Amino acid sequence: MKRIHLLSPRLANQIAAGEVVERPANIIKELVENSLDAGSTRIEIDVEQGGIKLLRIRDDGQGIPKDDLPLALSRHATSKISTLDDLEAVSSLGFRGEALASISSVSRLTMTSATAPKEGEPEGESGQAWQVEVEGREMAASIKPAAHPKGTTLEVRDLFFNTPARRKFLRTEKTEFSHVDEYFKRLALSRYDVAFSLRHNQKVIHSLRPATRGIDKEKRVAALLGPKFIDAALHIDSAAAGLELTGWVGLPTFSRSQTDMQYFFVNGRIVRDRLVAHAIKQAYRDVLYHGRQPAFVLYLTLDPGLVDVNVHPTKHEVRFRDGRLVHDYLFRTLHKALADVRPDSQSSPTSLQGSGVLKDEVASTGFSPSGLTSPALMANSQQPITGVQAGEFSEQTRMSLLPHRNPMTGQANNPAGVQEHLNAYQSLSQPLNIASSMATTEEHIDPETGEVMTVAVENDIPPLGFAIAQLHGIYILAENAYGLVVVDMHAAHERITYERLKIAVDNQNVQSQPLLVPITLSVSEGEADAAEQHADEFARFGVLLQRAAPESIMIRQIPVILQQAEVERLVTDMLADLMQHGSSDRIQAHRNEILGNMACHGSVRANRKLTVPEMNGLLRDMEDTERSGQCNHGRPTWTQMSMSDLDKLFLRGR
Ligand SMILES: Nc1ncnc2c1ncn2[C@@H]1O[C@H](COP(=O)(O)OP(=O)(O)OP(=O)(O)O)[C@@H](O)[C@H]1O
Ligand SMILES: [Mg+2]
Repeated sequence: MKRIHLLSPRLANQIAAGEVVERPANIIKELVENSLDAGSTRIEIDVEQGGIKLLRIRDDGQGIPKDDLPLALSRHATSKISTLDDLEAVSSLGFRGEALASISSVSRLTMTSATAPKEGEPEGESGQAWQVEVEGREMAASIKPAAHPKGTTLEVRDLFFNTPARRKFLRTEKTEFSHVDEYFKRLALSRYDVAFSLRHNQKVIHSLRPATRGIDKEKRVAALLGPKFIDAALHIDSAAAGLELTGWVGLPTFSRSQTDMQYFFVNGRIVRDRLVAHAIKQAYRDVLYHGRQPAFVLYLTLDPGLVDVNVHPTKHEVRFRDGRLVHDYLFRTLHKALADVRPDSQSSPTSLQGSGVLKDEVASTGFSPSGLTSPALMANSQQPITGVQAGEFSEQTRMSLLPHRNPMTGQANNPAGVQEHLNAYQSLSQPLNIASSMATTEEHIDPETGEVMTVAVENDIPPLGFAIAQLHGIYILAENAYGLVVVDMHAAHERITYERLKIAVDNQNVQSQPLLVPITLSVSEGEADAAEQHADEFARFGVLLQRAAPESIMIRQIPVILQQAEVERLVTDMLADLMQHGSSDRIQAHRNEILGNMACHGSVRANRKLTVPEMNGLLRDMEDTERSGQCNHGRPTWTQMSMSDLDKLFLRGR
């Protein structure tokens, strides 16, 4: 048997490196985190050949004093914590004291650093920088003088040159760089106050200025994740019970096939956490098309003592002391934000409010809610909505149309005749409580010039406008202040029915109505038994059943809301649902699913002719219904084509 012996420092570090250094991107993460911990305000990253040949990170942080330099590269050496108490409330990104030792054991690493001159020290001293490298099995450090401004530069060359087995796992330059780029995004999204740049093979890939104002933060997000996301995102800013959540969540109509646009930060550290993922998924459950993934960039802030970050070597996971509280808080906050999305939503994206700065780079839509309050952006309202060709269901981006108000200035944007139609429709429209009135004016302060502007306001055009026609029994065409609205009537009605059913069932107040002629339904004996057994559940959903014979049941009553449904299919499907879920607490858990299926049956089918008042009724209902921007499966229910979109289609110059 072989004798026991101590591993050489290099080998021990190489083993430790196995946990945290898989590819160049991991190194970027570790080094940039160090720069952030050192209080840097500017971090420059240079990468060659996907980071395999060279990674260089340069910062303007506090630097490392000469005497500490060798320690920085040795294992179990850190300046960030000293006691267990420190660890339990750690607020720096690093604390293990391992990253540099690990990285330098599997690459050629040099570190050059200079600190600010100490008080009383002559200015000249500040120029003195030192460079450190380690060599050999023992990883002995050697230090020599160098030139460097205050701050630190790390150069990592030839990753895995001495560990061929690991080197084999590296992919192509392109793939490795795409990982570097992804990690860069995470880091740049974690600290808006720091300037970041990334170059690959001498080419500038990102160059980000510090962002303190909301609008600049959105610019950064747009630069990193694409303007479409921020354009179709809700701004979140909430705080409760010592927890704070800020950031952006994509509208359900801006969903992804992958989980590739999900960024969640806990106290500035990006994490992938199952509890968090679950809470967010729950919040979207009702509004996301099957199999689609939400997009989000969210920041949770809480007392560092309430979260354990020391659960995984890469620190990608955390453990919350009170996981339940965090889960509930996330779910509630996001669920509510998403519920508020509807055509007249004021709570949809807000952070662009009062500023037109984003317009050329990001906002491709004139329908920013800011249009409602900021004349500055109104000038911008001629820009087309992204939707028509946009692949990712982003048509409803940032549309937030306040009812009874037209934000457009001047007559030019105002489709002639809407006001006239109003009166005609009004007599047709059911109890829509639309009060007609003449256009009036309102005064706004121009945020840029400070001047008072008089703005014409049409008082009574609702956000989704008034129906003009039905297209092929599927779409409702409506005219609103901006142009044409197209509504998928089945999808929209389904959502409305669903939301109403949910409320009714919640309040144990499902209005149900006897059928004039009860319907007898032939079923299997097992189904009939189940129908009897679940009679209470059926009743809670507003359906009254009776056993008529061993193999038949009689349907006596159905919810008023579903009176248009094909009753037999509705009941057959409900029966199937109830049987599948079995016990009543499971039924309760699957309640929304069951209600969703019921709503689908009860909603207007394609090809049903609607009268104009019916169509208008539907539009008004949409404006009043939570989540009405998407059907129960997350597909959009409506889209807007503005006059300028139409003009573009017809090459009509303005
Ligand atoms: N860019 C930098 N500027 C200033 N000091 C640095 C920098 N990078 C590293 N250091 C110093 O070197 C020490 C070691 O860094 P290293 O990344 O190995 O460990 P750590 O950050 O303390 O913990 P972890 O292993 O969790 O990252 C740090 O504690 C810090 O004092
Ligand atoms: Mg570190």
